Amino acid sequence: MNNAPAIFLGVFLVFASAWLGLIFAPYAQLSGLAPVVPAEGGDAYPRPLGGLAAQGRVIYRVNGCIYCHSQQIRSERFGTDIARGWGPRRTVARDYIYDSPHLLGSMRTGPDLANIGARQPSAQWHHRHLFNPTWTSPGSIMSPFSFLYETRKIVGQKSVDALPIPKGYPLADGYEIVPSDHAKALVAYLQALDHTTPLPEAEEQ
Ligand code: HEC
Repeated sequence: MNNAPAIFLGVFLVFASAWLGLIFAPYAQLSGLAPVVPAEGGDAYPRPLGGLAAQGRVIYRVNGCIYCHSQQIRSERFGTDIARGWGPRRTVARDYIYDSPHLLGSMRTGPDLANIGARQPSAQWHHRHLFNPTWTSPGSIMSPFSFLYETRKIVGQKSVDALPIPKGYPLADGYEIVPSDHAKALVAYLQALDHTTPLPEAEEQ
C-alpha cells in the first residue's frame, strides 16, 4: 500500500497549523500596533530609546541582568505584581513595539524592572546600588557590578560624578570612585524604563 500521500498531507497539516497559530495569527493580531498620541496632544507613547539609553540597553544585555530581572507586569488577575508596586497597570504588546530583541525575562531573582525609571529615578541611587547593592539595599544578594566603575586618584577637584562612600569602606584618602561610560549608559537605560502611561487595552475588565 502506498501511504506517501497521506504521510505528506499529515506532515503538511502539522507544519501549516503551527505556522498559522504561531506566525500568522500573532502577526495578524499585532503587526498593526502603533504608538498612541494623547488626544490632548503631547508625546506619543511608546517612543524609541534615546542615544545613551539605547547604548545602556546593550550593557543590560551583555551583563545578564535579564537572568534575574523581568520587564513585564502581570494582570491583577494573574499575580501580585501591581499590589507589590511594580507598576500601576499590566504591560501589553504595545509597550514593546520598540523593544527588539525584547527583554521580557523569565526569572525574578530580583524585582521586575519594567517601571524602575519611574520607581527609582535617582541616577546616584542606581550607581551606588550597581557598585555595591548592599549600600542601598542591606542584605541584597544581587551581584555587584563594581567593574563598571573606576577607582582613581583625585586630581585637583573631586569629580561631580564621584560616588558617596559609606563610612568604613576601605578607600584610600585622595581617591574617588566614578562611573565608567558603560555604567552611565546603563543607568540612563534604567531611568528610561517607564511603562506607566495609561493605555486603553491595558485596563482590567
Ligand atoms: C544574581 C541575580 C541578579 C543579577 C544578575 C542582577 N540583579 Fe538586580 N537585583 C537582584 C536582587 C535579588 C535585587 C533585590 C535586592 C536589591 O535591591 O539589591 C535586585 C535589585 C535590583 C534593582 C532595584 C529594584 C527595585 O525595585 O528596587 C535594580 C535597579 C537592579 N537590580 C538592576 C540590575 C541591573 C541593571 C543588573 C545588570 C547589570 C542586575 N540588576 C543584575 C538580583 C540580580
